[in-house]
Amino acid sequence: MKALLISGGRIIDPGRGVDEVGSLLISGGKISWLGNGQAMPSRSDYAVLPAQGLAVCPGFIDLHCHLREPGFEEKETIASGTRAAARGGFTTICCMPNTNPPLDNPATIEYVRSKAATEGVVRVLPIGCISKGREGKELAPMSELVAAGVMGFSDDGSPVLNSPLMRQALEASRALGLPIIDHCEDTTLFGGGYMNEGIVSARLGLKGMPAAAEWLMVFRDLALAQLVGGWVHIAHVSTAGAVDFIRHSKEIGVRVTAEVTPHHLTLTEAMVTGDNTAAKVSPPLRTERDIQALIQGLKDNVIDVIATDHAPHSEADKRGEFSQAPFGISGFETALGSLMGLVHSGQLSLATLIAKLTCQPARIIGDKYGKLGTLAVGAPADITIFDPARDWVVDTGAFASKGKNTPLAGSVLKGRVMATISRGELVYQDESIKVEEKEPEKVKRRV
Ligand code: DOR
Repeated sequence: MKALLISGGRIIDPGRGVDEVGSLLISGGKISWLGNGQAMPSRSDYAVLPAQGLAVCPGFIDLHCHLREPGFEEKETIASGTRAAARGGFTTICCMPNTNPPLDNPATIEYVRSKAATEGVVRVLPIGCISKGREGKELAPMSELVAAGVMGFSDDGSPVLNSPLMRQALEASRALGLPIIDHCEDTTLFGGGYMNEGIVSARLGLKGMPAAAEWLMVFRDLALAQLVGGWVHIAHVSTAGAVDFIRHSKEIGVRVTAEVTPHHLTLTEAMVTGDNTAAKVSPPLRTERDIQALIQGLKDNVIDVIATDHAPHSEADKRGEFSQAPFGISGFETALGSLMGLVHSGQLSLATLIAKLTCQPARIIGDKYGKLGTLAVGAPADITIFDPARDWVVDTGAFASKGKNTPLAGSVLKGRVMATISRGELVYQDESIKVEEKEPEKVKRRV
């Protein structure tokens, strides 16, 4: 593939403390040259992607999504899900194992990896199950799953209610060096609710899911991680109380990392009207107070990363009664736009936001797949280009995802992905982005 110069953009690379206008050259699938100001590379055989007025940052990394394959291809496939990821600016995505069959054995991991290699447009890192069949009874063959290439373990969609099993998983994680990613919800406390337990659930007459259900499970996991020294990663933190517990555990040296979703950072239980099944998600949308604690947790590094929990469902699945609909929000394609709202309102700096989507998740993944989450020379050319100020209307008809289930349908967001480069290939470009196939001698050279 011909080399590509991304020229004159605002290069934001929080892992290296960079925020300056510059250009970068991609060749051989890697970043091969970087220059600030008006500098140009010495070679001239490249196409040019003009990025004036746009932000250029490392490709976003999502530690938590659902690609639904194998088994639920009517909701999403690796082909459609990775295209949706690319439209959202994500170049590395970690997919959850609540498929059918679940990803609890090496053959299923191999299936996902080979599909991703042939049909995916971004890097896909599968997550293996903690327990066989996600049944919470017996550990999955964790060492075999590591050999097959998992990035971590989770029974996401369900918590690990069985405490001795969670202890064993954390013990194994110590030797394996990979995180145990827990969906923290003590479901025994409420036995099947549909939304946050509070005044809105009371008014609507919908069974609630109390914040305390999350607190109990987060606290149990932190206690076990402290006991055995394993690595626990708390998925989709949604409550202020969980932020407090994680903060304390980090202070005393427990090995814990944590994530929050764009929807838990930006939407409250007020979105739930009783028939808006697109706002039905697990954990549920909470309160303004929780949002403020989650934002503070991001700023203080109590919460390490933002992860989408992209959970596509078919229209048929989400139609009908609120109580019957499955939990989940299709999140890849609105993530940046909704999160930029926090930047535009002054609640989060752009550098912090980009760090939570790039170098911070890269730290959790480690360097097995090359240097991710950075624009350093020699790193894989995974790059996201976005317009921080562009207004756009969320049109689910234009989604690449099969999942149109978002409570943001029809909303205006400010901040839009304009192009995504994965391993050196332009895998998404907005129609307004034109790559200039210039003849070498015609490229304007100003050193
Ligand atoms: O809302 C959710 N949907 N939360 C989860 O934990 C699982 C996910 C899904 O698989 O649909």
